[in-house]
Amino acid sequence: MAEKIRILIVDDLPETRDNVRKLLQFEPDVEVVGQAGNGQEAIDLARKEQPDIILMDINMPIVDGISASQSITQSVPRCQIIIMSVQSEADYLRQAMLAGARDFLMKPFSGDELMAAIRRVYETRPTIVHTSATTSTNTTTASESPIDQSQKDGKVLTVYSPKGGSGCTTVAINVAVALAIRGYKTLLIDANLQFGDIAVTLNMRPSSTLVDLADRISELDADLISSVALEHESGLQVLLAPPKPEMAELVTADSLDSIVNIVRQNFDFVIIDTATSLQDTTVTVLDNADRVLLITQQSLASLTNARRFFDLFDALTSDIQRIMLVVNRASDKFSISVKDVSDALRRPVVASVVQDDVAVTNSADRGIPLLGNNARKTPVAASILKLADVIEIDLLGETKQDAEGGEAVQQKTGWLSWLGR
Ligand SMILES: Nc1ncnc2c1ncn2[C@@H]1O[C@H](COP(=O)(O)OP(=O)(O)OP(=O)(O)O)[C@@H](O)[C@H]1O
Ligand SMILES: [Mg+2]
Repeated sequence: MAEKIRILIVDDLPETRDNVRKLLQFEPDVEVVGQAGNGQEAIDLARKEQPDIILMDINMPIVDGISASQSITQSVPRCQIIIMSVQSEADYLRQAMLAGARDFLMKPFSGDELMAAIRRVYETRPTIVHTSATTSTNTTTASESPIDQSQKDGKVLTVYSPKGGSGCTTVAINVAVALAIRGYKTLLIDANLQFGDIAVTLNMRPSSTLVDLADRISELDADLISSVALEHESGLQVLLAPPKPEMAELVTADSLDSIVNIVRQNFDFVIIDTATSLQDTTVTVLDNADRVLLITQQSLASLTNARRFFDLFDALTSDIQRIMLVVNRASDKFSISVKDVSDALRRPVVASVVQDDVAVTNSADRGIPLLGNNARKTPVAASILKLADVIEIDLLGETKQDAEGGEAVQQKTGWLSWLGR
């Protein structure tokens, strides 16, 4: 028989604990391994019993359910917490989710509801959980494991967010430009196939697009790709999205897969912008990526979607180490801090791209990347450069700056001098 799901029940009322225990007693795949009457007992029992799931009340004496969840999330990360609350505690649910709780049940709940929540949380639990979350200033690498170098030369970074409008295109364009300016052979692919907006944001005429490659997939080679890619004045090469939404279906997941596999042999970095919906083309470029730049913001909705994505990604690929968590529009004015994001998702935030409505909007509207106009001295441009540093260090082990002893890299456009480094 398969292993049982080990449960800890935490509630200050003995009769509530008993009711929950009774709801579970005839379930063949669960086992109640303990009961606690307050948050402190829960913390102690969680450490001792290492349950899979903790059913946690909110209002309890000594240590409440939110503080206990926070402590357990940090110290016993294998435990997944389901909050049991009453309607009047709805305000606390937000805090509970931020404290790391995975799901919640409104009391009174039926045995079916309880088991559905337990199975859902158990089945989507992360297989690898990080215990040490770091803040935005930390440049921890996303993975300790070396990249598989067997057949790839270039590093593929897919920029994705499970919430639309989070800043994927902004980050993808500006990071790609930063890498190109540093002298890396860099290709930006607009894989937001229906509504890709890289052409307009970089002020490039879509004279050729991915459709021109998808048409000739059997002839695909480096020469064909370079004849379709357009060159931006920063030195960046760009493969644009189809010019009309109805042409998106001409670029299939298979053709995108072939394109990425060929271009990675010819570029140092391939940066791929994506749409939010998880269509098969998006899944392909997530699969193909050495790193997924997961763009979040400091909002509960953004966090909730990011957590769902982490769970899904982990379940599908078991390779959550490939995700680099990035907070965009970062600001200390929001009630959810960058550290809260990191704590709630149990992942380091590798970089924060600061909020600057004027610089970012003007840059997009004028079709000039942040590093290419007078926004290059702004904090948002500096945070993009920092993110590029993190990417270089994580994927190559050093930055160009380090490799060349601080000497500027020779580059054919005048953009490099604008970096001021
Ligand atoms: N750091 C930032 N500071 C201020 N505004 C920003 C920042 N990043 C992005 N924006 C703005 O947020 C909006 C959405 O950004 P962007 O288009 O990059 O997001 P997206 O994730 O690509 O969206 P979509 O889901 O439509 O593809 C844009 O108006 C952009 O100018
Ligand atoms: Mg976009």
